[in-house]
Amino acid sequence: MSTLVGKHIVLGLSGGIAAFKSAELCRALVKAGATVQVVMTEAAEHFMTAVTMQALSGRPVFTSQWDSREANNMPHINLSRDADAILVAPASADFLSKLLHGSADELLSLMCLARPLDKVPLLVAPAMNREMWSNPATQRNVAQLRADGIYVLDVGQGDQACGETGDGRMLEAEEILEDLESFFSPKLLAGKAVLVTAGPTYESIDPVRGLTNLSSGKMGFAIARAARMAGAEVSLVAGPVHLATPRGVSRVDVRSARQMLDAVQQQVGSAQVFISTAAVADWRPANAADQKIKKDGSGQTPQLGFVENPDILATVAHSPRAVAGELFCVGFAAESHDLLAHATAKRQRKGVPLLVGNIGPATFGQDDNALLLVDENGARELPHASKQELAVQLIADIAQRLG
Ligand code: C5P
Repeated sequence: MSTLVGKHIVLGLSGGIAAFKSAELCRALVKAGATVQVVMTEAAEHFMTAVTMQALSGRPVFTSQWDSREANNMPHINLSRDADAILVAPASADFLSKLLHGSADELLSLMCLARPLDKVPLLVAPAMNREMWSNPATQRNVAQLRADGIYVLDVGQGDQACGETGDGRMLEAEEILEDLESFFSPKLLAGKAVLVTAGPTYESIDPVRGLTNLSSGKMGFAIARAARMAGAEVSLVAGPVHLATPRGVSRVDVRSARQMLDAVQQQVGSAQVFISTAAVADWRPANAADQKIKKDGSGQTPQLGFVENPDILATVAHSPRAVAGELFCVGFAAESHDLLAHATAKRQRKGVPLLVGNIGPATFGQDDNALLLVDENGARELPHASKQELAVQLIADIAQRLG
């Protein structure tokens, strides 16, 4: 469930070409369960109509401080009092400057100035040309706005409407949504570093063939995202998967189990939590061929020998920091049957305090799952839900164990 369910968001639009993304953002906020009240500056109306924003938010849009629909004729007060947050996207260079100076010559800036500081947080998503963004005046304004307690989101990078390329684009709607969801998430893992492995590994047989499995990486990516939203510094070591990196997560892509072990060993030193969701291939071909193994027409099949891969989780779980209790290790077990018995045995074999069991064939590639958390005291089920929801519950469980 999104942290935006039941939240009332005042979505402000100032003048910028990125206003077209605000329509998508409005839709996404509503879809996530928020109610959205749109407020637009006069400049914003040059880029996006109030009609579009009303249709998408399901509420009349406010554009003027002289709006007589409000009985007391004080929309700047009324609109800001019941908001869980004000989000200005796009926030133009001019609008940032107005916020900084406490200008109040139109409804949006007036409402931001009039908001109760202790109750209504203000987030802004800047959007402007790269020269405007890098100008010392803008950078000074951004630094001061942050010091004033305003949450200035990052800017995107890339092609700009003006034809130039650089920093200053407004983030995409789904990125802003993720930042806002994250903003409302309890920071259960603040100050902690979490390392997650995810996805399958791929073990080469020859340059064109290999040994892999059906793991999609979705559970591990959901866990990385949930840990990040809970305030942790998150590193993700991913096998070959086709998934976008969760916002704010640093990612290293690997292919084989041995590469995954190397990447984990490079990063685990600074982590307090290691969550091993990757479906690491148990074996690899003993001798991967340098050239493609050819079918010669004789009917003979190649003789493939196998060697066991390193057990990444067991290696980490037996490292001095894990043994000393400085690193909390969590393993996963994908089983086809007898989940509790296999997960209990695996927890002991791997030497981890917490082992998370799931039914592999039922979950690989799916967006939902059910988990069984097995520790020294027994088992607890996290019933069927989306992988993202389960990830949030698992992170909350781990945070509680860390104290
Ligand atoms: O032994 P099995 O593969 O069933 O164990 C599953 C758990 O161990 C998962 O947490 C998986 O990420 C981890 N694992 C590992 N390295 C291996 C095999 C499994 O880290 N070579």
